[in-house]
Amino acid sequence: MAKGFLLAPSILSADFLHLEDALQAAEKGGADWIHIDVMDGHFVPNITMGPVVVKAVRRATALPLDVHLMVESPRRFLDDFAEAGADSLTVHVEATNELERLVEAIQDLGLRAGVAISPGTSADRVLPVLDRIDVVLVMTVRPGFSGQSFMAEPLLEVRRLHELILKEQAQALIQVDGGIDAQTAPVAAQAGAEVFVAASAIFGHPEGIPVGIRAIRDSLEAQGAPLVDASDS
Ligand code: DX5
Ligand code: ZN
Repeated sequence: MAKGFLLAPSILSADFLHLEDALQAAEKGGADWIHIDVMDGHFVPNITMGPVVVKAVRRATALPLDVHLMVESPRRFLDDFAEAGADSLTVHVEATNELERLVEAIQDLGLRAGVAISPGTSADRVLPVLDRIDVVLVMTVRPGFSGQSFMAEPLLEVRRLHELILKEQAQALIQVDGGIDAQTAPVAAQAGAEVFVAASAIFGHPEGIPVGIRAIRDSLEAQGAPLVDASDS
C-alpha cells in the first residue's frame, strides 16, 4: 500500500474565473483532497463561498472535498454541504457548544467529521470527541485569510494531539492549515501533522500549481517517515 502525507490544496487562492482548470491542475499534480474554506463574515472577518461552489467543484474533480466551516452555528448548514457533495465537514470548537452532537450529525450524514481549533485554543477542547472523529485540524494562522505567515505556537497542540492519538489508538488524522509551504510543512510534520492544507503556496506558486504541490511533497519526503496510509483517503 502506498504510504505518504496527504496534501489538500485550498482553492481560496485559486483563480475563480478558471476554477476548473485550477482543480484539474491540482488533481494531475498529485493533490489528495481539495480543501474548501467556507467563511460567513461572523465567525471570521471574511466571506468566501458556500454550498453552490462546493456543488460546482464536485462536478470538476473526483478528489475528496474537504470542507472547512468557519461559520457560526455550523449545524444549520450540514445538510446543504452534504447535499452539495462534501466528503468531510470540519467544524470549529469555538463555534459550537454542542460539539458531540455536531460530530454525530456529520457522521450520520455519511461524511467524515473534522474538528478544528484556532491558534490560542487548547487541544483539550477536542478530547471529548477525539476517539471518534476522522480529522483534527490545528490552524497555524488566525482563520480568515490566505497568505498569512505560519505561526509556530499551535505546533504544541499538534504535538500533544499526536501523543494523545497514539496513546488512545484513535484514528484521527492531524491536519494543519495556514502558512503551509515547503519550509513550514516539514516543521509541522515533525510535530505530528499528516494532512497539509495550502492555498497560496500551491495556487499562487509562480511556476504553477503542480510545481507548488511537488515542492511541498518533496520537502516532506526529504524529511522522511510518512505517517499516513494515503490509500485510505
Ligand atoms: C484560512 C483558511 C486556510 C487558508 C490557507 O482561514 O482556513 O485554508 O486558505 O491559506 P494559506 O495556505 O495561503 O495560508
Ligand atoms: Zn482552511
